[in-house]
Amino acid sequence: MSGHGTPIPMQAHFSRGLSGRADVPGDKSISHRSLILGALCVGETRITGLLEGEDVLDTAKAMRAMGAEVMRDEGGTWHVYGVGVGGFAEPDQVIDCGNSGTGVRLIMGAMASSPITATFTGDASLNKRPMARVTDPLALFGAQTVGRSGGRLPMTIVGAVDPVPVHYTVPVPSAQVKSAVLLAGLNAPGQTVVIEQEATRDHTERMLAGFGAQITTETTGEGRVITLTGQPELRPQIITVPRDPSSAAFPVCAALITEGSDVLVPSIGLNPTRAGLFTTLREMGADLTYENEREEGGEPVADLRARFSPDMQGIEVPPERAASMIDEYPVLSVVAACASGATVMRGVKELRVKESDRIDAMATGLRACGVEVEEGEDWWIVQGRGAGGVSGGATCASHLDHRIAMSFLVLGLAARKPVAVDDGGPIATSFPIFEPLMAALGADIRRV
Ligand code: S3P
Repeated sequence: MSGHGTPIPMQAHFSRGLSGRADVPGDKSISHRSLILGALCVGETRITGLLEGEDVLDTAKAMRAMGAEVMRDEGGTWHVYGVGVGGFAEPDQVIDCGNSGTGVRLIMGAMASSPITATFTGDASLNKRPMARVTDPLALFGAQTVGRSGGRLPMTIVGAVDPVPVHYTVPVPSAQVKSAVLLAGLNAPGQTVVIEQEATRDHTERMLAGFGAQITTETTGEGRVITLTGQPELRPQIITVPRDPSSAAFPVCAALITEGSDVLVPSIGLNPTRAGLFTTLREMGADLTYENEREEGGEPVADLRARFSPDMQGIEVPPERAASMIDEYPVLSVVAACASGATVMRGVKELRVKESDRIDAMATGLRACGVEVEEGEDWWIVQGRGAGGVSGGATCASHLDHRIAMSFLVLGLAARKPVAVDDGGPIATSFPIFEPLMAALGADIRRV
């Protein structure tokens, strides 16, 4: 688990001509869901391409603690022998979800409609994050919660003995909240309805359908109305996890801002609820092409080819696109710093409650690297300095946030002076092969 070990300071130096192929790991969102849904059906679910990052490994441990058998074979395939909907055993120890908001929120949802009690904790970052957004709707099913002030972990959930189905409009654009409610709805009799006003990543809906649940989505004047029929018998699946667009973002953006680069990032999931960054980069004038577009495992996929793009221009990112690129704003702000003109990002309040306050973390580090940034509660503007215009030369705090650490390291490849991060340890939560992968492309990133 990150955040408990010795910090790993890292530094990125000016680099040229990144080239080759970047095989990024499996999608984090889909990996968590594969393990949890596998644990909720009887029989063997087989998963290939699972992200073996700390976040997902913590979810695997949690599923074992709740009675599922979860193992990895020598070939790297994961096997989950689940307990069935409503079949979770009461864990006899505290469940530690490490750094993972997705892990803890989805698991809380999955157990809240079962008659067991579980206590959850996490690292210093996770224990600061708001959980009421999940425990409020879980209370409607009949679950009870006791946590620290402000609805923070550590927290105990007493699952509902006689869960009732719920009709819930998600008040913030959050796939974690939507998914927690749907997973709780699995063990409630009758129909659970979740309404989201803004479309967020739909992996839970797609996977529930794949596992045989009765689930429909309708777009109405209210938003996306998702209806799930409870107490299904889920059927185990064979799952191939697509590669993570949120991880692909780092080598792609590194290539765009680093002179002479030409990088191929194959087989990236381009589900429209996830691909907002790539649309935005293309609108900024990035030389980013989709090759070999195809469908794999029900998800649109393409090979991304990114080449150095010295003439990118800042744009106003449409706020309605925010949910489809919510994890990518930190690295977008790095590209924005290397583009010309202002990049305006609005409707992004959620960035303040991620693994860190991502607007504050990026604004502080960018300013230290000579980039002008303005910010408000739900917006920020980065004034681009043009290709080769960022001075760098600062040490930036990663705040136990993998994406902040990787974003500043990408910036250091294009800045005139090196950019350091105080702790690259959290990178292992989502992208454990970041260092060798970037080194193989020719990026000069070192531990110091
Ligand atoms: C995720 C949803 C998003 C995202 C997170 C993964 C998911 O969080 O930031 O990295 O897998 O459902 P929110 O639901 O809080 O927006």
